[in-house]
Amino acid sequence: MEERGVKFEASEDEVTKDADVFYNPEMQLNRDISEVAVKVFREQVDLDHLRVCDATSGSGIRGFRYAEENDKLYLNDPNPEAQEAIQKGLKMNDMDAETTEKDANVLLSEKRNFFHLIDVDPFGPFTKFLDSTARAANHTSFVGFTATDNSAPSGSYPTVCERRYGSRPLRNSFMHETGLRIYIKEVFQNFARFDKCFEPKICFHERHYSRVMGRVTESKRRTNRNLDNIGYLSFCRGCRWRTLERKEECEKCGEETEIAGPLWTGKLSDQRFTEKMLEKTPEEWEEAHEKVRIIDSEASIKTPFYDIHEMASELEIQAPKRDEVIEALKDKGYIVSRTHFSPTGLKTDAPFEDIRSEIRDASITEQSD
Ligand SMILES: C[S@@+](CC[C@H](N)C(=O)[O-])C[C@H]1O[C@@H](n2cnc3c(N)ncnc32)[C@H](O)[C@@H]1O
Repeated sequence: MEERGVKFEASEDEVTKDADVFYNPEMQLNRDISEVAVKVFREQVDLDHLRVCDATSGSGIRGFRYAEENDKLYLNDPNPEAQEAIQKGLKMNDMDAETTEKDANVLLSEKRNFFHLIDVDPFGPFTKFLDSTARAANHTSFVGFTATDNSAPSGSYPTVCERRYGSRPLRNSFMHETGLRIYIKEVFQNFARFDKCFEPKICFHERHYSRVMGRVTESKRRTNRNLDNIGYLSFCRGCRWRTLERKEECEKCGEETEIAGPLWTGKLSDQRFTEKMLEKTPEEWEEAHEKVRIIDSEASIKTPFYDIHEMASELEIQAPKRDEVIEALKDKGYIVSRTHFSPTGLKTDAPFEDIRSEIRDASITEQSD
């Protein structure tokens, strides 16, 4: 098989956990975005070579795509069929790598403060690999985690979320943003235990998975500063007000709020990083380009996104077009963007009252046209 010009060996069977060598074509977008993020990181650190670890390799496609000529590539997967596929892939791409068949936790724990780039892409949650990844990252690292257990941190299984992440989720229109914030909090806290600071560079949700990618540095002061980004999110089910603070009562209608967290209350992506990614994402990679474009445009806005349909339903009006509301808020001088979380959502720093009134006005204008 081939992906973006890189060859690899994998079974073309139906994608299941039990397929001989796991390859999911639906994850190509994840790999496209991750490859571009690695390119930006590479430029920022300007090292002669990177030590690249694809800790849960499967066919090895990620490692093949991330590594450049001078890098030292480490590919690991305990599945013997994956090992065979990795060897074939290395030959097909004329690449070298150190290959191992270990549990990723064993490999990463043995390589303390060693890797510049670590990718963890297991089945389900990544939580059990966090400790060892934090050990293996050095002071100039970039790490990427994929999670496919989104139903827990997005609120379908609150008890599973509490058990696995120690956080309370929230099931509502922006549940996937809350889930992503819980994932980032979990990564940050695990690295903080090792006095290492994880800072999100590009984090997103897509279909059935979430992806968390960021820089690791060894700085107690930086880690301490980022502790301010761990907190709570409050949401009023009555009027749909929300804030990234712990407030027991809605500031708009006085109803008791629902509270999620602890979670990451900082930015989900770093715009200085995503704008560089946008420059580097080939336009022919249409889906990745569009996704990075939206993530970049919303990166500077912290407040959880608003779903126009949900807001309109609360106001008992017909939902107006998203872009009309965005333009009206921009005209008032606010920062506004689409959001990658939902086609009917917007992110803005505008006050709640102004969002409601612009949604109402746009709806009335559309009805009268
Ligand atoms: C989702 S697949 C990886 C897909 C690959 N990264 C890609 O993009 O195509 C997960 C892989 O993790 C491997 N795996 C499962 N448990 C593991 C563990 N404890 N340590 C290392 N690898 C593991 C599986 O054998 C499987 O190949």
